[in-house]
Amino acid sequence: MWYYEKKLQYPVKVRDCNPMLAKFLIEQYGGADGELAAALRYLNQRYTIPDKVVGLLNDIGTEEFAHLEMIATMVYKLTKDATAEQMKEAGLGAHYADHDKALFYHNAAGAPFTATYIQAKGDPIADLYEDIAAEEKARATYQWIINLSDDPELNDSLKFLREREVVHSQRFREAVEILKDDRDQKRVF
Ligand SMILES: [Fe+2]
Repeated sequence: MWYYEKKLQYPVKVRDCNPMLAKFLIEQYGGADGELAAALRYLNQRYTIPDKVVGLLNDIGTEEFAHLEMIATMVYKLTKDATAEQMKEAGLGAHYADHDKALFYHNAAGAPFTATYIQAKGDPIADLYEDIAAEEKARATYQWIINLSDDPELNDSLKFLREREVVHSQRFREAVEILKDDRDQKRVF
């Protein structure tokens, strides 16, 4: 069960209308290493992972939805005042033709989200290594988007999200060690 709190995890401000930046940011909305993929991956893995790390997947999976909400807010704010011409110039003409300025789960290149982005192997160590890789890829993607952005206010929010990926990666690494310790102890009689 979830309770909705009507505020963003971290404030989102944008300097001006910038549909080009929105196009890049959509990578973190519906892309392979984006926030939707992260949330769905972790919450889905909870059912077959050992009890000791279920809480961690719960916490991080839930937080990823809060990040998804931040990305949605950014994309909305960056495009809400854009004209059709500006959308087209930013490479969002095809998006505009299909969705106007509604958000949609696709990556920066326009490929729609797919469940093939995520995995659930049923092996706790394999799943956690995938999660660590996902966090590192998300961190790198945030860095590439920051490099493409000249909006200092937006970059402040992106740096917060980048840091959360670092924290998540560390927590998943700790979970691997917890499960490895557990596995090793079971071998001692
Ligand atoms: Fe994350």
